[in-house]
Amino acid sequence: MAKILVTGATGQIGAELTLALRERHGADNVIAAGHRREPSGNLAQTGPYLSLDVRDAAALDAVVSGQRITVIYHLAALLSAVAEEQPLQAWDINMNGLLNVLESARKHGCQVFFPSSIAAFGPGTPPFDTPQDTVQHPSTIYGITKVTGELLCDYYHCRYGVDARGVRYPGLISNQVLPGGGTTDYAVDIFYAAVKQRHYDCFLRADTQLDMMYMPDAIQAAIQLMETDANRLMHRNGFNVTAMSFTPAQLAAEIQQHLPGFTIGYAIDPLRQAIADSWPRHMDDSAARVEWGWQPQYDLTAMVTDMLRHITAKLRNE
Ligand code: SER
Repeated sequence: MAKILVTGATGQIGAELTLALRERHGADNVIAAGHRREPSGNLAQTGPYLSLDVRDAAALDAVVSGQRITVIYHLAALLSAVAEEQPLQAWDINMNGLLNVLESARKHGCQVFFPSSIAAFGPGTPPFDTPQDTVQHPSTIYGITKVTGELLCDYYHCRYGVDARGVRYPGLISNQVLPGGGTTDYAVDIFYAAVKQRHYDCFLRADTQLDMMYMPDAIQAAIQLMETDANRLMHRNGFNVTAMSFTPAQLAAEIQQHLPGFTIGYAIDPLRQAIADSWPRHMDDSAARVEWGWQPQYDLTAMVTDMLRHITAKLRNE
């Protein structure tokens, strides 16, 4: 039976992934570990929770060995915009955290999930139908930690047989936990502003097209990849996955279908615009589709309908 550790469990992906894994494997078999944020009620109430700084190799290893962990979903990381403000800290958390996880996995025979990102690409990458295997020369510290992470995971697999797997997530949109410090955060913020004020000032240009995904699909991707028979996998880490690709103007137009009075303005943040401009517009995720059956459920229309329903209910209850 799997015994799972989720690092970064209080973050945007971790909070929902932990709950999905608890439903699948039983609450006591999924340990949530967070550090920088307090756990939400749901997370702390539905199963074991502990505070863990992934940079502390001894503390991490004590949890993995003491709890007889067999699978680690390693989500603890700084996102792109906040990483650009604190590059050394981003390197420390994103790289040393991953290295500590891989070392514990090597010693104790754990399977590892590592989320890479569209940020693992850079200005020299083909921006449309970005291939699975192509130029990866990112211009952000976050992207550098993601490429290095993909390589480290592949290295630990080839050198030590660690079953490390991962995807390159696009911008993730969730109706529960807020992202915090990413370049694609606008695609979440816009829903709260639309419901509350019927207006949103976007920090990216109207025509900034990026890949995106609704959180239920992101959770499904992680679990599905981890459960796939290893013999089917030609790649292991950094699978391109996407569900939709849109600009702020297109997202605003879709929201206007539901809220006709909604308006969008633009107050460009040069830092985040430069980051977004260095990322691909639309990835080719056929390797994930062929090798492990990746198939998203939510397109732009379905995602916007569901987000507005949830955010409206959430704000009504506040
Ligand atoms: N959503 C992330 C960010 O904007 C990309 O991985 O930083």
